[in-house]
Amino acid sequence: MFITFEGPDGCGKTTQITLLARYLSGQGIAVCHTREPGGTSIGEQVRSILHSQDNQEMVSQAEILLYSASRAQLVAEKIIPALTEGTTVLCDRYYDSTLAYQGYGRQLDLETLHLITEFATQGLKPDLTLYLDIDPEAGLRRRQIDQAAEWNRLDALALDFHRRVHEGYHRLMEAEPDRWVKVDAARPVEVIQTEIQQIVIEKLNR
Ligand code: TYD
Repeated sequence: MFITFEGPDGCGKTTQITLLARYLSGQGIAVCHTREPGGTSIGEQVRSILHSQDNQEMVSQAEILLYSASRAQLVAEKIIPALTEGTTVLCDRYYDSTLAYQGYGRQLDLETLHLITEFATQGLKPDLTLYLDIDPEAGLRRRQIDQAAEWNRLDALALDFHRRVHEGYHRLMEAEPDRWVKVDAARPVEVIQTEIQQIVIEKLNR
C-alpha cells in the first residue's frame, strides 16, 4: 500500500504522518515513512538546493526538474523496493504537489508536468492520497497577524498563488475521487489522527 499526504503549507501533514507511522508500527504493520523533496541522500541534497535562500534566481523549469530528480531517486531507491517487500509506504508529498504548486500555482503547462512526472515516477501512483484541507486565506491571515505586518503587494501575490494551489488540489481530487480522501485539518490533532487511522485501516483491510 502506497499512501501519500498532500495539502497546503502548514496544514499539519508532517505531524499527522508521524503519528500514523507510529500507530501502524504499533499494529505490527511494516512502515516506510518518507518525504519529498528528500527521503534519500541524493534527495536531501536536492532539497537543500531547492530550499536555500541563496538560490533566488532559480527558474521554474529548474525547480520542476529538481523536485522530479528528488522524486525519481526516492521512487527507485526507496519506494519501489519497500512496496516489493510488502511494506506500507507513507510519503509526505508526491507528484500531486508538483501538479498543484508548479502546475496550478505557477501556471506551468500541465501536460508537460504529467510527462516529466510519468518519467520520474516510472508511472507509480499512490493507492490512497489523504488531503489535509485548510483554507489558504485563513492560513495566510493568521501568519500576517502573527508577524503584525501590513497587508502588502507581496502578500496579495502570495494569497493569489495559494488560492490557485488550493483550487488545483480540488481539481485533482475531482479528477480521481477514488484515490483521494479529504480530511478537515482545522480540527484538533487527535481528532484528525483518529479519522486518518480509520480511513487507512479500512483501506488496508479491503
Ligand atoms: P516542506 O518544508 O517540506 O513543507 P511542508 O511541510 O509544507 O511539506 O516544503 C515543501 C515545499 O515545497 C512546500 O511549500 C511545497 C513545495 N513543493 C512544490 O512546490 N512542488 C513539489 O513537487 C513538492 C514535492 C513540494
